[in-house]
Amino acid sequence: MIEASAPSKVIIVGEHFVVKGQPAIAAALDVRSKARIEENLKGIIIRSINLNFEVMIPMELSGSLPKEVEPFRRILKTMSERYGKLRPAKITLESEIPVGSGMGSSASTFAAFTAAYSRYLGVELSLDEVNEIVYEAECVVHGKPSGIDNTIVTYGGVIAYRKGEGFLRLNVKINQDYAWLVADTGVRRSTGDLVRRVLDLYDKYEEVLMPLYHAAGHLAIEAAKALEQGDYEKLGELMNINQGMLEAIGVSTLQISEIVYKAKEAGALGAKLTGAGGGGAVLILAKRGDLNEVEEAIKPYTAKIFKTRITHTGIRVKEFNER
Ligand code: MEV
Repeated sequence: MIEASAPSKVIIVGEHFVVKGQPAIAAALDVRSKARIEENLKGIIIRSINLNFEVMIPMELSGSLPKEVEPFRRILKTMSERYGKLRPAKITLESEIPVGSGMGSSASTFAAFTAAYSRYLGVELSLDEVNEIVYEAECVVHGKPSGIDNTIVTYGGVIAYRKGEGFLRLNVKINQDYAWLVADTGVRRSTGDLVRRVLDLYDKYEEVLMPLYHAAGHLAIEAAKALEQGDYEKLGELMNINQGMLEAIGVSTLQISEIVYKAKEAGALGAKLTGAGGGGAVLILAKRGDLNEVEEAIKPYTAKIFKTRITHTGIRVKEFNER
């Protein structure tokens, strides 16, 4: 049996602005998705525990399939075209990441699936190849994403990303006196729809919004420096400025604002939506000593709070011998 996993992600600063070519900073979190592969003789069966479906994809990859399965068909198609083979299998998908929360559940699941299935085929894929294949699957779900989600879940760590240019791994200075919280609003939304809405707003008010986009780019560069210097007070301030920018492009909500203000009132250094917004998750940076108070303050406004760590492990593949 083969099992692959991939982390979730948060965008520390720069979501949406990254879609128009500005740099953004993302981190991988130790909340993971898994794909488990077992031998099966009949066809390619995909079972999703979180989305509650089990579907058989015919070996010739034809026919009509539920829309949730389309990204997997796309991955399989690319593998069959590039490597000339497919094998019947049963692939079970399970994730700790809430779907539609801005924590990269789709990219993470596709990355785990691609890594597990390629190992099952006996094809050694580089991380760059996995990243490319996951990006194609992301396009099936989200339209034309920037590519930041697939990149961070594939490589792990903390990265500065710029569309079309790729990524730079940041050498983050960890300081145990500071900690992250990710608060899920419980409100699910479509990244593709939100991205389109923001792009429409940009087209309508290009002259007004262009300077804001440039400012967001500068902010991301400052945030990268703050992370590398271990200056978490500065990082918190930059996150707060970034939240104001995201508010300006219309992707925050009343519930997000409630979490942001309650967190700051309880001592958080920085709080902002993370991902596409419109619901989804809020990223909070606080001094470790203030963490419990912050958590208590935001609890009534959240569906779930993740107290998690940044992980350097991107995709991980394990093989088990069956007896
Ligand atoms: C989604 O995690 C981040 C967005 O910037 C979209 C993208 O980069 O493709 C909102």
